[in-house]
Amino acid sequence: MSNFSAFLDGENKPLRVAESHIPTPGPNDIIVRNHAVAINTVDPAQQAGFKVARYPTVLGHDLAGIVHEVGSSVTRFKDGDRVLGHAWQFLTGQAEDGAFSLYTRIPAGNAAILPDNIDFKQGSVLPVAIDTAARGFYDTGFMGLNLPTADAKPNGKVVIVYGGSTSVGVAAIQLAVNAGYRVIATSSPRNHDLCREAGAADVFDYKSLSVANDIAKSVGNDQFVGLWNTIGIPESFDVVTPIMQKLSGGFVANTKPSGPTPENITVKFVLGLGEYSYPLWEHWITDALASGKLKALPEPKVVGKGLESLEHAFKVRNGDVSGCKIVVEL
Ligand SMILES: NC(=O)c1ccc[n+]([C@@H]2O[C@H](COP(=O)([O-])OP(=O)(O)OC[C@H]3O[C@@H](n4cnc5c(N)ncnc54)[C@H](OP(=O)(O)O)[C@@H]3O)[C@@H](O)[C@H]2O)c1
Repeated sequence: MSNFSAFLDGENKPLRVAESHIPTPGPNDIIVRNHAVAINTVDPAQQAGFKVARYPTVLGHDLAGIVHEVGSSVTRFKDGDRVLGHAWQFLTGQAEDGAFSLYTRIPAGNAAILPDNIDFKQGSVLPVAIDTAARGFYDTGFMGLNLPTADAKPNGKVVIVYGGSTSVGVAAIQLAVNAGYRVIATSSPRNHDLCREAGAADVFDYKSLSVANDIAKSVGNDQFVGLWNTIGIPESFDVVTPIMQKLSGGFVANTKPSGPTPENITVKFVLGLGEYSYPLWEHWITDALASGKLKALPEPKVVGKGLESLEHAFKVRNGDVSGCKIVVEL
């Protein structure tokens, strides 16, 4: 049995598919035979040299597949389990930890069981989005939300998700709603149904001139907890700042490092990878997927099959992506 990987040999080099060894698990790792991988904006950015520790390397974060081997201390998984998970090459710099291989090593703490009614391509859309949303909600110094549970009751608190139709936004909506928060989201009208399917109570078009007023009205007398700005780019604050001003300031979790911080608003950059999300993966995601409380959204858009398709998938990812996640089947 052998492995194949899409190697990156240097900045802006094309991916090179070649044979590689099947990784060995550490005590707390699992080895996954990947059947679908999703593409994130960071993947083509890494191909262009962003935060690559050494070459050759293997990129990729989002995966779904079948457990091939478990480490000596792993109890939640066994060989043959269907799983989804988040690969850690961005932090470890190790080629074995990149998702763009047939076999990848990931921490067991960053994986969950994929139920039989959710296929691999659907499962692969979630891990990065969940971990990014989770950092803004749960890690020390961020919003301090309660974790989701199986039977959360409305708690009278409101979270705003700016960019509710991004994959990070869809995950943020689902996490907050499953912990009892009311979620107000923004997106283009074409994606309002997606935000509602994820659980948003109200959705507004961020291009509407009345969006700040509409959101403030929707918050009403409920307690405003914070805004997740999944778009993060400086221009997004043209809309986010007036919303926050209507609510007299507060906390913004941001997918991009922020520039000068608007008055009365704390803006904090999120890196969506780390052990902070282990409690979610270990205690909630498996059951929530099985019960349907956590949906595999947005829809995967499969743009190829095989590691050779990744180069094309990166190009698609660098174009206009709306209401879906770009996926390659393996
Ligand atoms: N820091 C991290 O660890 C981390 C991790 C993952 C992602 N990210 C970043 O987070 C962002 C979201 O990633 P994603 O993959 O979840 O996104 P995505 O699914 O590709 O989101 C695309 C959607 O973003 C919305 N959008 C694009 N430009 C916009 C703008 N100027 N104003 C408002 N909405 C806009 C559009 O929604 P509509 O079509 O509804 O208008 C578009 O459909 C990206 O910038 C990504 O680089 C960061």
